[in-house]
Amino acid sequence: MRKKAKVVKKGELYFPNQEFKKRALIKDKAVYRKAAKNPVKFWEDLAKEVNWYKKWKKGFVHKPPYFQWFVGGKINITETALERNLKTRRNKLALIWEPEPVTERARYFTYYDLFREVNRFANALKKLGVKKGDRVGVYLPMVPEAIISMLACARIGAVHVVVFSAFSSKALQIRLQDTKAKVLITADGYYRRGEVIHLKQNADKGLKDTDVKKVVVVKRVDNEAKMRKGRDLWWHDLVKNESDWCESAVMDSEDLLFILYTSGSTGKPKGCCHVCGGYTVQANFTAKWIFDLKEDDIFWSTADVGWITGHTYGCYGPLLCGSTFIIFEGAPDWPTPDRWCDIIEKYGVTTFYTAPTAIRMFEKYGIDLIRRHKLETLQVLGSVGEPIDEAAWKMFFKEVGKERCLLVDTWWQTETGGILITSLPGVGPFKPTFAGLPFPGVKADILDEKGRSLPANKEGNLVILPPFTPGLLRTVYKNPKKFLKTYWADYGKKIYFTNDSALKDKNGLIRIVGRVDDVIKVAGHRLTTGELESAIALHKDIIECAVVGRAHDIKGEVPVAFVVSKKKKPVKKLEKEVIGLVRQEIGPIASPSKVYFVRDLPKTRSGKIMRRILRKLFTGEGLGDLSTLANPESVDNVRKIIQKSK
Ligand code: WT7
Repeated sequence: MRKKAKVVKKGELYFPNQEFKKRALIKDKAVYRKAAKNPVKFWEDLAKEVNWYKKWKKGFVHKPPYFQWFVGGKINITETALERNLKTRRNKLALIWEPEPVTERARYFTYYDLFREVNRFANALKKLGVKKGDRVGVYLPMVPEAIISMLACARIGAVHVVVFSAFSSKALQIRLQDTKAKVLITADGYYRRGEVIHLKQNADKGLKDTDVKKVVVVKRVDNEAKMRKGRDLWWHDLVKNESDWCESAVMDSEDLLFILYTSGSTGKPKGCCHVCGGYTVQANFTAKWIFDLKEDDIFWSTADVGWITGHTYGCYGPLLCGSTFIIFEGAPDWPTPDRWCDIIEKYGVTTFYTAPTAIRMFEKYGIDLIRRHKLETLQVLGSVGEPIDEAAWKMFFKEVGKERCLLVDTWWQTETGGILITSLPGVGPFKPTFAGLPFPGVKADILDEKGRSLPANKEGNLVILPPFTPGLLRTVYKNPKKFLKTYWADYGKKIYFTNDSALKDKNGLIRIVGRVDDVIKVAGHRLTTGELESAIALHKDIIECAVVGRAHDIKGEVPVAFVVSKKKKPVKKLEKEVIGLVRQEIGPIASPSKVYFVRDLPKTRSGKIMRRILRKLFTGEGLGDLSTLANPESVDNVRKIIQKSK
């Protein structure tokens, strides 16, 4: 067992202790200085450490807003994630799967096991007619086959489009239609909080009016899912006779690796396009340095594969580093509130990466419960997805990390492909509520509306400057206009606008304040109010609606809806229908926590709904000048309705 020295505290800053520093992969700031001098060269040097069939000709090419990395290079991510590890880590555990039911056995895959499973399934996909460049839908819960599917696609150069298994069939359908996927991989079901979720039924609905010709079904719960003849095939039948060797496809550095949809400022989700070369390099080195991944680490990232964190740090990153990682099927508080502690202790997790919403939930169940666990294998803790408030930071640091573990608060986005802002564990400094320093080679700044760089402690818009990073999205799938408008319009085509607001302290540590667009974070899940509004607007009795996020103790934010309805229906019934529509169109995670039926929504004279005012009705802030409203009386009415329903 490792020694238990505490993290060093100096004033409000935290630093690694000598013992940690001694073993850390990155121990001092030299790497920052080197990277800042020539970021392109810095990334090129890192790129040399992953496997290429053919080296690139040019490191970085910029044709604003478009850019490319490692141009002319030929690569396949599985060559580094799998093959490379066969030499030195053939029998090392790559993947541990922990099922939700405690009575069920875990599944373990060594690097060699995983390699063979991926090859078998890659061959099966080929037999189904999947070719390089084809899109493949993946609608799977947290089972090993999710990881195998992604890697098998990558192996043959097919583009995976993972859809979060708790998204609705409608959300699945939109993504399958947009990408014209020919194959979908799903499961009969899975366990969630002790219940069987019948995923195949959802998948069937989502398949309507799509180009999907073949559906591969993982048998997980054996719920006698209906299989359609000629279309649906069991995974186990398909791979039974496949060879465990499949040649990897030679991919261009800038070829698509995957598309992952995320919520933007409008109702329609955007397909973020990530490419083979840059993503591989960035995923490898952010995972390695930020989590200080060494040979003996056991990495557990709690995010679902349906989100970018599940892609980069729940699959590719740890494999590229040759690590052992865990995926968990269930909810971290099921069947007991400290299930997550049991998992950490069962496997000796050293690196635990989760979201502030989970941390707040753990706290709600009581500190005593956590104190019963020693959690002594933990070394590095990570937080992601939304700003972590000071109370949650301290509780995570003190009660989970026992003041011995470094806590990396990692800022990034689906678009960035990998973490861009966080201090490194062997270097520091760490400061509660601050994500920290930009990763070496990343140029971030905080600008005012006019594009002027702001001094310390002034809040403004967070931007990333050229040469950006190798893993940043290349475009929005089939929608270059949206790509341009969302990220490259506010400050011209050479500056990537994150749509986050932030500030820097005098040490250059960055604190993320929150989104400046209509994106809300519900238990770490990214949604836009526009998506919910489009869903609600489908109701025939509803004239108009507005959705805003309001603060919530555990989830960070929850959506609330304001609705103007045509008819005087019983409120309870209408509320149920509105919530039903949101669940049907997006999924249960998006359910409004409350629906307010109001007479009128506050609007400007030009008819724009003032969501800002609706938001402020919950925060207790002053509402500001209402004289610009066309209907200032609406505000009182809304306020009364909110109070009445408390
Ligand atoms: C948005 C991106 C990328 C992993 C999961 C989220 C917010 C993310 C932090 C953090 C404060 C954060 C930002 C960002 N965010 N990490 N450490 N501190 N805010 O990815 O779903 O694409 O959401 O999440 O607002 O823009 P995502």
